[in-house]
Amino acid sequence: MARDIHDIRGINNPIDRLGRPLHDLRISVMDRCNFRCPYCMPKDAFHENYRFLQTSERLSFDEIVRLARLFSTLGVRKLRLTGGEPLLRANLADLVGDLSGIAGIEDIALTTNGVLLGQHAVDLYANGLKRVTVSLDSLDKEIFKRMSGGFAALDQVLEGVEAAIAAGLEPVKINAVIERGVNDHTALDLVERFRGRPVIVRFVEFMDVGNRNAWRPEMVVPSRELVARIHARWPMRPISENYRGEVAKRWRFDDGAGEIGFISSVSQPFCGACSRARLSSEGRFYTCLFATDGLDLRAPLRGGADDAELLRLIRGAWTNRRDRYSELRDERRRDEPGHQKIEMYYIGG
Ligand code: GTP
Ligand code: 5AD
Ligand code: SF4
Ligand code: SF4
Repeated sequence: MARDIHDIRGINNPIDRLGRPLHDLRISVMDRCNFRCPYCMPKDAFHENYRFLQTSERLSFDEIVRLARLFSTLGVRKLRLTGGEPLLRANLADLVGDLSGIAGIEDIALTTNGVLLGQHAVDLYANGLKRVTVSLDSLDKEIFKRMSGGFAALDQVLEGVEAAIAAGLEPVKINAVIERGVNDHTALDLVERFRGRPVIVRFVEFMDVGNRNAWRPEMVVPSRELVARIHARWPMRPISENYRGEVAKRWRFDDGAGEIGFISSVSQPFCGACSRARLSSEGRFYTCLFATDGLDLRAPLRGGADDAELLRLIRGAWTNRRDRYSELRDERRRDEPGHQKIEMYYIGG
């Protein structure tokens, strides 16, 4: 019976102009963060007087759940909660509980900087969270501090990782953004520390998301460089993807000490199979991480739109989608140097 329902849904699922289905929804629940990573929320731009959203401007849990339910009927199977820092949103575990009850949702994950994870891991898991990804760029205290905008919370983040493993959220993924001359020399320490543990370290190429992180191509360390360095120390081989369009390329150590991953959106863009959509904390729907514009879903939600109307809007945005920014990066940067993209803190990676 359940199978029939899925089949019927399948026929109606929207496909974008490049033939890509909508499978993965990333929901930003909070635009604030307790870090100021220079590549995401540089301190001089996101200062004390920066105007973040008011509570009433953010979608409520009920509104998020309603939208997630509608998205699931359009083919979404994976949800990822992001921020800013999602654990700054009070009672986040309650939202996880509500989302995990939605028919069709197979996977709920969370991306966090890990500072508050130790406090919440048990509740999150108990309410249905399946996986967690912790952002951690270096194990060197000084470099960590620099890359988080002056915060000395490395030990708390490491405790958060351990708490997540202990709670059952394993394997924990770690995302390390690598910037040339900043933390690339500490990349192998991360591998060494987590090899053989239920942790998958993934190295993320520094991207030109947003407009404020002073990105320059020379700051990107192409994954192939890191692969060569790591392989020379711990031989490893590429393994197949877990699912079509997986963001990270996976490698497994020959000695059985687990796997690591590389997210190479600059050197090897993966737009071709991108089935990810994003919802900002104020309810704007974006079809690309590098989008300039989003579709306001909060106004119709609060204006009394029925489900059919909301579905029509979402479907329309997806079926019109042509995004493939990472594949067009050089051209876009050359032809539209000033074009204003959404910021990472607002849409959550
Ligand atoms: P799973 O495979 O489900 O574990 O998740 P994921 O690999 O999609 O995880 P995650 O959200 O941790 O993504 C890792 C990082 O890859 C993000 O923080 C972004 O920096 C980058 N990323 C994720 N999705 C996209 C995307 O659609 N486009 C680009 N350019 N980068 C992305
Ligand atoms: N380039 C690459 N990754 C980034 N992230 C934030 N800003 C950037 C950037 N400019 C990553 C963080 C975190 C996730 C939310 O996005 O490391 O893992
Ligand atoms: Fe916060 Fe994550 Fe952005 Fe760093 S990358 S400022 S932890 S949202
Ligand atoms: Fe998807 Fe846009 Fe990232 Fe390409 S650049 S993978 S279209 S989010």
